[in-house]
Amino acid sequence: MISKQGGFCFGVKRAIDLVEQALQQYEHPIYTLGLIIHNQDVVDDLRSRGAIPIDSIDDAPNGSVVVIRAHGIAKDIFLRAEEKNICLLDATCPYVERIQKKAEDYSKQGYQIYVVGKAEHPEVQGICGWSTTPVIVLANEAEADEIPFVEKAVVLAQTTIRKELFEAVCKKIEKKVQKLKIENTICSATMNRQKEALEIAEQADQVIVIGGKKSSNTQELVRICQKKCKKVHIIENNRETILEKFPADDIIGIITGASTPNWIMMEVVTRMSENEKTTVDQTTEAAEAARLSAEEAANNEFMEAFEKTLVRIRNGQILTGTIVQITDNEVSVNIGYKSDGFIPRSEFSDNPEERLKDIVKEGDEIEVEVIKVNDGDGNVLLSHKSVMARKAWDEFMEKADVEGTIFDAVGKEVVKGGLITYIEGVRTFIPASQLSLRYVENLNDFVGQPLRLEILEIDRHKRRVVASQKKVLQQEANEKKKEIWQTLHEGDKIKGIVRRLTDFGAFVDIGGIDGLVHVTEMAWGRVKHPSDIFKINDEIEVVIKSLDSEKERISLGYRELQPKPWASAAERYPINSVVEGRVVRLVPFGAFVSLEPTIDGLIHISQLDTQRIEKVEDVVKEGDILRVKVLAVDPEAKRISLSRKEVILDETPIEELVIDVIEDEEAEIVEVVLEAESSSATLADFFPELSDAIETEDEDK
Ligand code: F3S
Repeated sequence: MISKQGGFCFGVKRAIDLVEQALQQYEHPIYTLGLIIHNQDVVDDLRSRGAIPIDSIDDAPNGSVVVIRAHGIAKDIFLRAEEKNICLLDATCPYVERIQKKAEDYSKQGYQIYVVGKAEHPEVQGICGWSTTPVIVLANEAEADEIPFVEKAVVLAQTTIRKELFEAVCKKIEKKVQKLKIENTICSATMNRQKEALEIAEQADQVIVIGGKKSSNTQELVRICQKKCKKVHIIENNRETILEKFPADDIIGIITGASTPNWIMMEVVTRMSENEKTTVDQTTEAAEAARLSAEEAANNEFMEAFEKTLVRIRNGQILTGTIVQITDNEVSVNIGYKSDGFIPRSEFSDNPEERLKDIVKEGDEIEVEVIKVNDGDGNVLLSHKSVMARKAWDEFMEKADVEGTIFDAVGKEVVKGGLITYIEGVRTFIPASQLSLRYVENLNDFVGQPLRLEILEIDRHKRRVVASQKKVLQQEANEKKKEIWQTLHEGDKIKGIVRRLTDFGAFVDIGGIDGLVHVTEMAWGRVKHPSDIFKINDEIEVVIKSLDSEKERISLGYRELQPKPWASAAERYPINSVVEGRVVRLVPFGAFVSLEPTIDGLIHISQLDTQRIEKVEDVVKEGDILRVKVLAVDPEAKRISLSRKEVILDETPIEELVIDVIEDEEAEIVEVVLEAESSSATLADFFPELSDAIETEDEDK
């Protein structure tokens, strides 16, 4: 005896169909949140084709496609999926969706929600997740005895529980609630299946229940059959050895759970027939025909039941409709369904500035995606944006498939590690390192700026695109480089910008390529560090000393274009001029003084002081800044003679000099006289008040 209520229930069939459709429509893998069906064979088959079951939405990669099974999910999981940019295909059974809606509505009205069912069942957990207040789940009458008294409450049922259990628990609850609403939300498909199971079990010697051993509705069928038949077996497929052990003359009843496809039931029947150990009251062929017509009838029945209320369109479906009304906040669309669908402003486009009436007009045809068949108020929620996004994606992919395509875009927003932009409507990430040829300090500089991008990476499944501007710039720079190389010749003078300083030189950008001015090529004299001569971004003129196109090396000279310091030394340091310099070196016969980086002069020991000195270091030390008089300049020999003594004589007040002289011994006076003689002034000029004495000295001499 074979159950007429066999094969997938309407809700499960719908979920499987959606997975099949998703496998065709999207890149693999797609994910199912939980096992799409309590049937390992079907799950394995779908998995082998790319539909991977996951336990939590957190296990799904960002941007992936996830199918919600018929059991439904809690409301917050939708939000979590949205955060992860996951494309949800909602196969929640409409029966279950209706219960979720009731839980939400009643809880908002202040009702205590009771659900009769198993707390650990995903469907029950999903229903609880729609209530705005805590839900109490009651698995049996005993648990109902424990509930406190409340003013108002509503009882809902898990779709697959036994009617008797629901009624018994409700009776208990009635005693604890002042105002109680009872909503029998047990699925009619379940009830019919259970009713028929009971009838078959009454007549059969043994019953085989084909279904998932963990499936709630299969377990209920087993429990129901056990009430009327002592030998009830649960199997998942035709590989179970129990099938070989049935006595030939026993009447075997075959019942299938809601998650058992017809083909598994037929395999079981076929195997039993082959074994010739089973009495089946129909031939395999006849059984199959009966099965198919039973399934068809059952599905028709369900379809009719839903026709007026819920299902003709499904979530995720793309339709073409006609715009019938436009307001500031939404567009109503006739999609040929019993009620018009509406596109909220946010689902029309991403640009809040656009006025809907400026974009479309009544009577326009428009493509829409069904987001929710029933938004809770009986309206069909549609999206135009998602259709456009898909089209944009397809068009983008066509272009992106052509290697080397460069896309124009504008920087939109800074995110962690890079910049977001939209290439032809497709959200694209540009890592910070791919924005420019040089290090980018502030990514905000690129917001609102035009970009030219090449695609680096596309994850078609997650719809994630990574692009690079650097790659485009690099290519352009390479081409420009080639052009520049062709224009360069040794000996050319060229302008450039100092880009980088190192210990050994300065890198100068000469129009797209960098050449090096070695530290020895920077000045005619010795340069300690390039920073003594250049600053970053200095614009300078250089001469090309050598080119190596293979190694891409260019040596530049700078000092060649600078005047040689000794050539003009005589003009810049005229005799008797007083200049300042720093003592850089002491030698036994004097001190070298740096007048500029490339010109040192010598103060002979005799020119260091007005008095005779023993050692140079008695008077000066390295690092001293001195004012000195130029005594002689010889550019050829690169020599300048300097005198400190002259400056002292020139700058010391004469009275002090005189006092010094008078206080000194006679020899010292002679010394002063000699010094005076070496200058252009006469002694009388130095000592007018002692002119008599001087004349005497002169005469003596
Ligand atoms: Fe839906 Fe009923 Fe099947 S609730 S999933 S049609 S058992």
